Amino acid sequence: MMKEKLGKIRQEFITALTAATTPEEAERVRVAFLGKKGTLTEIMKGMKNLSPEERREIGALSNAFKEEFEQMLAARMTALESATIEKRLAAEWEDLSWPTGLSRGAAHPIAVVRRRVKEIFTSMGFEVLDGPEMEDEDYNFTKLNIPPDHPARDMQDTFWLDNGKLLRTHTSPVQVRGMLSHKPPFKFIAPGKVYRNEAVDASHEHTFHQIEGMVVDRNISVANLIYTMKILLSGIFEKEVAVRLRPGFFPFVEPGFELDIHCLICGGKGCSVCKQRGWLELMPCGMVHPNVLDAGGIDPEEFSGFAFGLGLERLVMMRYGIDDIRLFHGADLRFFTQFSS
Ligand code: PHE
Repeated sequence: MMKEKLGKIRQEFITALTAATTPEEAERVRVAFLGKKGTLTEIMKGMKNLSPEERREIGALSNAFKEEFEQMLAARMTALESATIEKRLAAEWEDLSWPTGLSRGAAHPIAVVRRRVKEIFTSMGFEVLDGPEMEDEDYNFTKLNIPPDHPARDMQDTFWLDNGKLLRTHTSPVQVRGMLSHKPPFKFIAPGKVYRNEAVDASHEHTFHQIEGMVVDRNISVANLIYTMKILLSGIFEKEVAVRLRPGFFPFVEPGFELDIHCLICGGKGCSVCKQRGWLELMPCGMVHPNVLDAGGIDPEEFSGFAFGLGLERLVMMRYGIDDIRLFHGADLRFFTQFSS
């Protein structure tokens, strides 16, 4: 009788302990069976009413069960405790090797605007060309109608290299390379870095970026140049921008111009940014000089073209209202993070 009852309690204990999924639940099982008023405890308390033989037998059995229960409880407890820790670790996982406090990176403003300029021109069917930063004098000057000893060579202070080459002072040598490698009609842009041996100040850098542009076809005129520039500028500034041309001298264009845009701040009324002029000088351009077409193997009697040399820094400074060109080569994250999008 008592033996069967004990056997049943043991079964119940095992079932209850197996069902426990947390250390707290296992503890409740312990209290229910081994606590002061626990089922097994009650049996042991009631043993004084049994006959001596029965007491001996049931006493030994219940003591053995008690010991067994305690072992099973301890094992289950350990398993549940480590499971709980595993679960917490999985839920609260953190990679401690990951540096904290990092802010998101951002593309450099020059890169952002260059990408946009490329998009605008490629959408008009322009090819994008590349050229070397270490150039031959011939491409940087001579074939661009600037012969040796011509005073125009002094317009651009040049870094000469020991090997007789130079760091290109503008992207215009890519005009020459483009003409020599293409048959007209063609149109391309050539973005890249250029170098000038100049003192650095708020508006001058020794290293900066230009985007050269060149279009050669039959009957190309200044009207094509103005139209193309207006498309570019409305794409960059996201509004109609009024432009005007003033005469400007560059040996490789004839006529040569300075293209101005209506001041973006005052819209042409005159303010401190445009020094009350209402206009901002944006980019030099012009009709390709016949000598340059000739040097590029193109017959100036049959073809004409226009070219421009867009200063990227200048454009970016106008686009975002930046007043110091040195910021671009600086490492001030307070400046760069303003361009994250
Ligand atoms: N290469 C000239 C410069 O950097 C700019 C320019 C390019 C002018 C194309 C006219 C035509 O000064």
